[in-house]
Amino acid sequence: MKSISTNMLQPEQILSNWEEFLGYIDMYIMGDRGAKLKAFYEQYSERFMMMPAAHKPQYHNCFPGGYVDHVNRVVQGAIKIDRVWREMDVIDTYTTEELIFSALNHDLGKFGTFEQEAYLPQTDQWRREKLNEPYMFNDRLEFMSVPDRGLYILSQLGITVTKNEMLTIKLHDGLYDEANKPYLMSWMPETRPRTSLIYIVHQADLMAARIEFEREWLPKLLGPKAENKANFNLKKEDKKTPVKSKALSSVKSEGLKNVMSNFFDE
Ligand SMILES: [Fe+2]
Repeated sequence: MKSISTNMLQPEQILSNWEEFLGYIDMYIMGDRGAKLKAFYEQYSERFMMMPAAHKPQYHNCFPGGYVDHVNRVVQGAIKIDRVWREMDVIDTYTTEELIFSALNHDLGKFGTFEQEAYLPQTDQWRREKLNEPYMFNDRLEFMSVPDRGLYILSQLGITVTKNEMLTIKLHDGLYDEANKPYLMSWMPETRPRTSLIYIVHQADLMAARIEFEREWLPKLLGPKAENKANFNLKKEDKKTPVKSKALSSVKSEGLKNVMSNFFDE
């Protein structure tokens, strides 16, 4: 499986993203909830580390490590957007732990089940080569929306969520999901959401996904000169350079190394 994205992450970046992700749990999720959440993520660390954020390149972060890269960006964005809302005098209806918990777990449903991964390597060679689709959805999974599956996983782990967290995870796609309309398009004050946390995490997710889309597609759509335009601020950081197979030698986990070697040019 070669060159599936121009934004493929270096193995070192995948590992440091994972440490950053676990660090948010350590720092913000307290007590029994934090312990249970961290134990779960550590138990499935290689699955999470390698998960893409989407199974088609037309979406966002469709490459190994794309999921954690996306979630970290949403957490970072949520922290900044929360600051803006507070500076604008939003009424204080949620805690910082609720903010980070919701951002960290908003896309947890993309994990699949404890037994089955949602995104599998594409087995159809034609789709892989002609459509550049590196993954396919695992049809052993019955339909469940990403928010519903994420909340179900948390319930199976015995991790309680507050009402704010439940609504924020459930509604994180905002009005991009028709099913959210009854919650978000009410004209009666008494039936509107009673916390702005929902909008803050939605904004952070929207921003992260848009940035990931731009990094993948704007250079392709606008041509190579687009990257040099002053108003087109794509930073060329190490993590966005093509992956070199020699970087695999720095990965300590044998399991991770084996999985990753399937993705990178030798
Ligand atoms: Fe997301």
